[in-house]
Amino acid sequence: MTSSRGHNGQVPNRFSVTTPIYYVNDVPHIGHAYTTLAGDVLCRWRRLHGDDVHYLTGTDEHGLKIQRAAEAQGVAPKEWADRTAVRFEQTWSELQIRTDDFIRTTEPRHYAAVSKFLQAVYDNGYIYKGTYEGLYCVPCEAYYADDELVDDNCPIHDRPVESVVEENYFFKLSEFEDRLLEHYAAHPEAVAPDARRNEVLGFIRQGLRDFSMSRTSITWGVPLPWDPAHVTYVWFDALVNYCTAVGYGVDDERFDKWWPVDYHLVGKDILRFHAVYWPAMLMAAGLEPPRCVFAHGWLLVGGEKMSKTKLNQIFPHDLIADFGIDGYRYHFMADQRFGPDGDFSYEAMVTRYNADLANNFGNLASRVLNMAVNYCDARVPDVCENGTLRSLAESTYTDVAAAYDRLDFASACTSVWDLIRATNAYIEDRAPWALNKAGDSAATAAVIGDCLQTLRVVAVLAAPVIPNAAGELWRRLGHSDAVDGQRLPEAAAWGGLAAGNPLEKGDPLFPRLDVSD
Ligand code: MSP
Repeated sequence: MTSSRGHNGQVPNRFSVTTPIYYVNDVPHIGHAYTTLAGDVLCRWRRLHGDDVHYLTGTDEHGLKIQRAAEAQGVAPKEWADRTAVRFEQTWSELQIRTDDFIRTTEPRHYAAVSKFLQAVYDNGYIYKGTYEGLYCVPCEAYYADDELVDDNCPIHDRPVESVVEENYFFKLSEFEDRLLEHYAAHPEAVAPDARRNEVLGFIRQGLRDFSMSRTSITWGVPLPWDPAHVTYVWFDALVNYCTAVGYGVDDERFDKWWPVDYHLVGKDILRFHAVYWPAMLMAAGLEPPRCVFAHGWLLVGGEKMSKTKLNQIFPHDLIADFGIDGYRYHFMADQRFGPDGDFSYEAMVTRYNADLANNFGNLASRVLNMAVNYCDARVPDVCENGTLRSLAESTYTDVAAAYDRLDFASACTSVWDLIRATNAYIEDRAPWALNKAGDSAATAAVIGDCLQTLRVVAVLAAPVIPNAAGELWRRLGHSDAVDGQRLPEAAAWGGLAAGNPLEKGDPLFPRLDVSD
């Protein structure tokens, strides 16, 4: 364990989150960004609690799909991967996603970890040689049985599969049925949401087939340590990235600190790999399964999954140009529930931006700061009404925390925005401008005091989702430190804004969008 101490002398809780590693045949679109953003928001939330966080993302660079994409461009697979991996890194930095590591499966550290992992599984007797004859979907990089096809096509991509006959090594997945069922019975929280757990259990109960974990027909992959004529099946290689990144095989202390992972965030399309194959592979290597695999739905565009061939992909950069970074982040966290499928619509994004960010959040901040500058000499008053807003502000943290515990980002946003709306309503009700006009400076100051205290709580609780606006609001409230350096839950307590803090009006935090064209 780490010896670094938290703010109150305790050893910080360690918290680790991963995204899938993305195939480099494609550049990042809003679907990839969705998972990666959610992980960032979750990690920011935990960092606000003083946790020692490890957030991992990266790229999946081997396999037939990448080999073919590179061939189509007339370049070597590694060169193709180099070009595309950087696009992912740039996109995450443009969205202000903070990662602790970016792993690429072509790195030497990953080759070393995969070899070690494979050897452990082989030595433990879970790999044998056989002949594979079957059907393969290249876009999925997955094998299918006849009865899994829909109209002879891959059930995910709706495209023909290829028939393959090869001498391969097989992984004895069939030996793990009971152990996986026992594991999920003892840890019902290990697959979420509930519907996804049922799906996984149903799949295991149908009976598990051994799967082919090596190929000889391609060379673009990690060679098997005991038989280098074979390269590792791309999924077997890819899943091990989660271990590579935290020191598997090279730094036991580091690995023991970070393993098992707290959350593997994945799309529903790759749930089976993460909740069936991966835990079995880990058990076979003598390692613990992940604590939770959380599968979210797809972001659809016009009711369809995005794909290059349908020409319906949307790229983060284009939306950031219109909505800003915080506008982008807010939309995908507040308006696209993390779990079910959701349809992306530009119009809905504009409407919600104007309603929640420009009107509710932005107007509230301007109104309150303006009044404080005009009626209270641009200082935080030393009085408060301590009325209804106080109790609402005090309960908001609990609601937001409960939502984050369920990875329900939309509800976390709703709770914060309920507080914002309640503050706007409170201002209407108490009409501080009338109190001021009537010369009641004590009552005016008390109402504004309540609003300012609430704004402080809003800034801290909204910071994981809209870090820039929250940081700017925090500064305008007279703080010289950073909002993301605060410590929850203390930072959400009522009355934390110091009387006398200098206040600043500033420009609108979220200018209204006009999309009349
Ligand atoms: N390389 C594998 C994952 C290996 S993890 C050890 C892979 N890559 S992928 O690039 O095809 O997709 C990865 C993930 O991107 C999906 O599971 C999902 O998390 C995300 N999404 C891709 N398209 C998406 C949508 N349209 N909507 C939401 N998420 C989507 O599979």
